[in-house]
Amino acid sequence: MLIKKLELTNFRNYAHCVFLPEKGINLIVGENAQGKTNLLEAVFFCCFGRSHRTSREKEMIAYDAPNALVRLSCERTETAHDLFLRLSHVEGRRIKCDGQPLPRIGELMGLINCVLFAPEHLSIVKDGPAERRRFLDMELSQTHPAYFFLLQQYMRALRQRNILLKSIREHPEMKATLPVWNEQLASLGSKLMRYREAFCARLSRLASQNHREISGGREDLLVSYRPDCPAFDQDELFKILESTQAEDLRRMTTTRGAHRDEMALTLDGREIRAFGSQGQQRTAALAIKLSELDLIREETGEWPILMLDDVMSELDERRQTYLLERILPVQTLVTSTSFAQSWPSARKFFIKGGAIDDSRA
Ligand SMILES: Nc1ncnc2c1ncn2[C@@H]1O[C@H](COP(=O)(O)OP(=O)(O)O)[C@@H](O)[C@H]1O
Ligand SMILES: [Mg+2]
Repeated sequence: MLIKKLELTNFRNYAHCVFLPEKGINLIVGENAQGKTNLLEAVFFCCFGRSHRTSREKEMIAYDAPNALVRLSCERTETAHDLFLRLSHVEGRRIKCDGQPLPRIGELMGLINCVLFAPEHLSIVKDGPAERRRFLDMELSQTHPAYFFLLQQYMRALRQRNILLKSIREHPEMKATLPVWNEQLASLGSKLMRYREAFCARLSRLASQNHREISGGREDLLVSYRPDCPAFDQDELFKILESTQAEDLRRMTTTRGAHRDEMALTLDGREIRAFGSQGQQRTAALAIKLSELDLIREETGEWPILMLDDVMSELDERRQTYLLERILPVQTLVTSTSFAQSWPSARKFFIKGGAIDDSRA
């Protein structure tokens, strides 16, 4: 998969710019606050229809502008796509692919695949289960658009059930409709869980292998799926939801289900989150990100776009060298504040105040 051209108009601090990345490594260099991350954010926006750093998408519109436009042309082995995304204060988000409107964000999923690695992704290893669920959901959505639709339905049903749990206090007669939502959550939840189980098994195999290569084979990294309901077939889930109904009514929220799943990361059997050193956590995060690349390649037959935002300086030489070897076949966008990593083969772009200058390359 190859990005040929990215054009931004009134996107963040870019009034207008055209970015023409090449195959291989594209080094994006600039001082702080010049627009490096903004450029990667625009690519991410084209893959997922949202920002990786804010849920308030209108923040991406340049100050004082009525709307932001992002245009991206990419090539896959057998197809090519022209994406057009428009964000407007008045009309919200509009997406077109090859001239056709995509009314549902799910239709965007998987058209372009990307893996982003930024320092905050250490949270996959360090933070609570919600971060790892988010990771699972993103990866599964971009390789299986059907998963994204299931997830949307599940989250909608969950919201409805939670609203109902609150309403029953004042309207006890509404309790009669709870089984409908239990049924929905059980059916959708068991499907999500099956996807997640298969994904974690494959991720674990790849991550363990990548980790062994980065760390020199000293420790064993394991990814294990820990579903909130151990036997995750629909009937079991339904029974669990029924049996926790009284508790849910008291707490006015759904306490059990797929939205409470965990994906555990262990190193030689110990939770990295609790016991790993900083170095171990970094290596594990890198191994997982590289496994994402491998997984998408396995699923789609093509390497995704890789974006490395400010991470090179955090890796020691051994990991940097390993990473460089691994990404040779992958179109990669790397940001950096300096040329310390002066890879001779990389195409270089200089960013200053929302303008791209590639004439000095
Ligand atoms: N909506 C916006 N309109 C104009 N400028 C913005 C907007 N959002 C952020 N910026 C500016 O973008 C810059 C940060 O860009 P960023 O890509 O995060 O920097 P870096 O090069 O350090 O990665 C800041 O100067 C910020 O003021
Ligand atoms: Mg940045």
